Amino acid sequence: MTDRFGRKIEYLRVSITDRCNLRCIYCMPSMPDGFCPVSHDDVLRYEEIERVVRCMVPLGIRHVRVTGGEPLARKGAAGFAGRLRKIPGIETVTMTTNGVLLSEYARELAEAGIDGVNISLDTTDEALSERITNRPGTVKAVKEAIRRMREYGVPVKINAVLLKETLPSICGLLEFAKDGIPVRFIELMPIGYGKELEGATPEEARAVIRESYPDFAESGVRLGAGPARYYSSSRLAAPVGFIEAVSHSFCSSCNRVRLTSTGLLKSCLCFDQGTDLSGMLRGSASDDDIKEAVRNCIYLKPAKHCFDSKEDITETKLMSQIGG
Ligand code: GTP
Ligand code: 5AD
Ligand code: SF4
Repeated sequence: MTDRFGRKIEYLRVSITDRCNLRCIYCMPSMPDGFCPVSHDDVLRYEEIERVVRCMVPLGIRHVRVTGGEPLARKGAAGFAGRLRKIPGIETVTMTTNGVLLSEYARELAEAGIDGVNISLDTTDEALSERITNRPGTVKAVKEAIRRMREYGVPVKINAVLLKETLPSICGLLEFAKDGIPVRFIELMPIGYGKELEGATPEEARAVIRESYPDFAESGVRLGAGPARYYSSSRLAAPVGFIEAVSHSFCSSCNRVRLTSTGLLKSCLCFDQGTDLSGMLRGSASDDDIKEAVRNCIYLKPAKHCFDSKEDITETKLMSQIGG
């Protein structure tokens, strides 16, 4: 369906857990192990999420991305992705993961028919990665997971949040990915702990890249259903994306809504606005009631974020509770 600004909404991001095995500085840096702001009973069961997705197909949802926290930290995540993949009308099911547990689930995800996996890897420098994620050994684990997913033929993209401290290792990341893995550099967004940090700008990143790849330029390529703008160089086999939510807002072509693990259908990343579907799912609401609630939520989706005016951001949840 379209919202009141005529945007076609066809992409649902589903956060299946707010828990994570890492503690990234821009996301949930200092929480204790097992930190879990949401009680287990409040988390939607897989059946409940599946019902929401089935209700959203007639409204035009075609693409589902499974997110977290870390989605693979929830038992049964790979099998659940497979169940979503079988829903008639759903054309792609993808996952965004930090990759650390991914090797273990590579085969199951491939067999479930996953259409692609976006894997976070901010740097290939192990010591720096440990400072960012607050966990050791992430680079080694993620590289192995990438190798395995590609072996199974699953399309992989790398997500790297742009930080001042990762600028010197950007070309190392491109070097690692140069035989054909698209890397996307993500501008730090002022959500949760992201508000307190200063990231590197996409311009700074492109300047660093041009020093090694002088013909690096915007290419107009499109990959996936997301907001990245892609660049290329004759010396890189894959395009390099930039997700510039702050400096190059893509709200006017936004195609998505988000479902949190507790059943809040969120219409925009920036605002604490949406429709709580959990009461309906656990009460006596019919599928038609749920569809009506979804329709209203989509219709009222805000025109744009206000990341450049931090005091107007009403979202107070952490990125791990939203799923990016
Ligand atoms: P594809 O391009 O289809 O592969 O997916 P994607 O880029 O939408 O998904 P992914 O989960 O990899 O997200 C990458 C980054 O883009 C994360 O930092 C997300 O928070 C950010 N992002 C995704 N959708 C939106 C959006 O609607 N608004 C904003 N501001 N950021 C978004
Ligand atoms: N700004 C931008 N990206 C973020 N991510 C997590 N927190 C932020 C933030 N504040 C990224 C993760 C992952 C994706 C889902 O979101 O690194 O790649
Ligand atoms: Fe976990 Fe992703 Fe948050 Fe890092 S950014 S702590 S990997 S949810």
